[in-house]
Amino acid sequence: MGVLIKGGRVVTATDDYSADIYCHDETITSIAPDIDAASLGGAVTVIDASRKFVFPGFIDPHVHIHLPFMGTHACDDYESASKAALVGGTTTLIEMICPCPNDEPLEAFHEWNNKAAPLAAVDYTFHMSVVRFDEAARKQLIEIVHEHGIASFKVFLAYKGALNLSDEDLFALLTLAKREGVIVTAHCENADAIDAMQKSLIASGKKGPEWHEPSRPVSVEADGVTHLATMAELTGAHIYIVHTSCEPAVRAAIDARLRGVNAWIEAVVPHLVLDKSCAERPDFEGAKYVMSPPLRDKRHQVALWGAIAGGMVSTIGTDHAPFNFQGQKDMGRDAFTKIPNGIPSVQERPALVFTHGVCAGRIDLNTFVSACSTNAARIFGMYPRKGDIRVGSDADIVVWDSDFRGTLSVRSSYSRTDYCGYEGWPITGRPSAVLVRGELQARDGEFVGTIGRGKLIKRKPTHF
Ligand code: URP
Ligand code: ZN
Ligand code: ZN
Repeated sequence: MGVLIKGGRVVTATDDYSADIYCHDETITSIAPDIDAASLGGAVTVIDASRKFVFPGFIDPHVHIHLPFMGTHACDDYESASKAALVGGTTTLIEMICPCPNDEPLEAFHEWNNKAAPLAAVDYTFHMSVVRFDEAARKQLIEIVHEHGIASFKVFLAYKGALNLSDEDLFALLTLAKREGVIVTAHCENADAIDAMQKSLIASGKKGPEWHEPSRPVSVEADGVTHLATMAELTGAHIYIVHTSCEPAVRAAIDARLRGVNAWIEAVVPHLVLDKSCAERPDFEGAKYVMSPPLRDKRHQVALWGAIAGGMVSTIGTDHAPFNFQGQKDMGRDAFTKIPNGIPSVQERPALVFTHGVCAGRIDLNTFVSACSTNAARIFGMYPRKGDIRVGSDADIVVWDSDFRGTLSVRSSYSRTDYCGYEGWPITGRPSAVLVRGELQARDGEFVGTIGRGKLIKRKPTHF
């Protein structure tokens, strides 16, 4: 079975040219100025891409789908999250496996993979969160890396008493990661400082969602980045700082790079387009916008976009963590510390970055592709299979209609949350066709694909 994409403007992380692309079965097999469908033989589906961009499928390097967290569970499963991802143009998800400290890591890997395998319509892989580090965990982590192809870990320097690691365990884990060539992704905030600030705010009656940001200010995040970077400097481990929300945190990570630490930086779309005034909305509406690190003062967006444009921030993810307003976010009506953290964004990310990044003149098209696809593939060991349009790569392709004008809404979202954090926002551009390994999975805002077709992408360690 073949698919011929005709007449598009192909944009990758490095190139921008007009060409036809032929995909045979699951792979891109030919790229040329004019491919004649009649010359190909056999059944060929032709997709007209004239006046459209052709991008490599987008990769979201940071999502939560199955997530037991703060006394509840995130409300998507792989079916709803895959559909949402695909209609937005995302063809590969990297989900965080987030077990509790008493869970066995290997069992957690199987639990998460068993939830994904039957329902995924996107390709997927995982970052393995390490929330307990002892001899049993160490052996299982080695098996997870080498037998199951999960070549990245995740650590939390936040969520005191629930997910955070002691310094002794962090040091030992980073030492293991360096030895095995595994990159360590990290949520960087000083957990003890947050705990103390939360207690003090609650004790003085400051309990609404608007107090979430003041309980974990930018200095707390920068301190977390500096701390992780010091540990990476001592152990030689390669680190990836997730959801960097503000200028001091980005600066701390760049400082580490200037000292020779192998550090990569991720931004996530909520921090790029939303600000802390959202969490200050009356009638508890602000709870929809509680995530960690929190939404910041608008001026930090300038630093984040600038660092993306300059290549200091490598990737734009979402930190998709979907919790309903009714029944989940409202668990925190009497104290912001009980509001489940997260803002669903897996469907909206490409259109928001295109609208507020490319169309607003903050980033160019090549940076759009590198930040939303190619760099994640490179950093996490999936390149060139994913993240590029070249002969031999998986035929994960987005045909992008930049003439489309629409609005974001919970009504057109495939995520199961009962709200959209970007309700009514105008957007420019959306995918008109999305292929995963050569099969059409989404068309003009509708899922048209096959549930269960997604594959676990096994990765090899590359960060020695
Ligand atoms: O608010 C967030 N970020 N929720 C999901 C958990 C995490 O910290 O990534
Ligand atoms: Zn986090
Ligand atoms: Zn997260």
